[in-house]
Amino acid sequence: MRRPLVAANWKMNLDLAGIRALIADLRQSYDKSSDVDVVLCAAFPYLFPMAKALAGTGIRMGGQNVFHEASGAYTGEVSAAMLVDTGAKYVIIGHSERRHTIGHLEDDHMINLKLKAALNAGLTPILCVGETIAERKAERTLDILTFQLRAALIGVQIENPAKFVVAYEPVWAIGTGQVATPQQAQDAHAHLRSELGGIIGSEQADAVRILYGGSVKPDSAAEIFRQTDVDGGLIGGASLKSDSFAAIITAALASKS
Ligand code: PGA
Repeated sequence: MRRPLVAANWKMNLDLAGIRALIADLRQSYDKSSDVDVVLCAAFPYLFPMAKALAGTGIRMGGQNVFHEASGAYTGEVSAAMLVDTGAKYVIIGHSERRHTIGHLEDDHMINLKLKAALNAGLTPILCVGETIAERKAERTLDILTFQLRAALIGVQIENPAKFVVAYEPVWAIGTGQVATPQQAQDAHAHLRSELGGIIGSEQADAVRILYGGSVKPDSAAEIFRQTDVDGGLIGGASLKSDSFAAIITAALASKS
């Protein structure tokens, strides 16, 4: 049985006061003994103060990106070991805003290197994959997912499948208000799990959590999370307010009980 996971991707939003207020609210609403994991992925400067604010809550922190080299002359980059030093346990890798937005343009090779760096440092990666609208319309969705997953995992050893997370994030659903249907999500997730089985073995693949991300809101979360191969969500816009994020955590918990 996979334990549901709800991860917030705050992107370049919120300030320190807003983060502290949100964590204070989550401290009230989240019961750390409940069967759902919660992770907050914040901008780098906030991770240290967050670690303090989260003490005792059972809520984990994550970075939104990592650089693949361990150290050196890489102005502006942050290594996996630096993330670990903040207390972060997770890191988002290959988010579509980094794959596709001008100025980032991360390719599959770089994502593969980042994944290795994260795993070597003991971080749990949240590997994002997903098709664009043009790719979906051309019926290439499953091929794109296979390609991105396989490329990311070249030469990667998954020792503990509970510490490796995949997020299916259709690019057309991110920040658009256009959420995938539960069936579209299930089809993509089942495909990813089966492909994963071909790479790391089906028993291991059964233990990997696959999150859905893209315009999840409290009213759409429950039905998506109820799908067999959906193990929670990666939440952008709806994670910026404590009431909507708490409602999504509740939906994740309810979906598997
Ligand atoms: P969204 O973002 O929930 O605002 O669509 C999700 C994400 O980018 O991970």
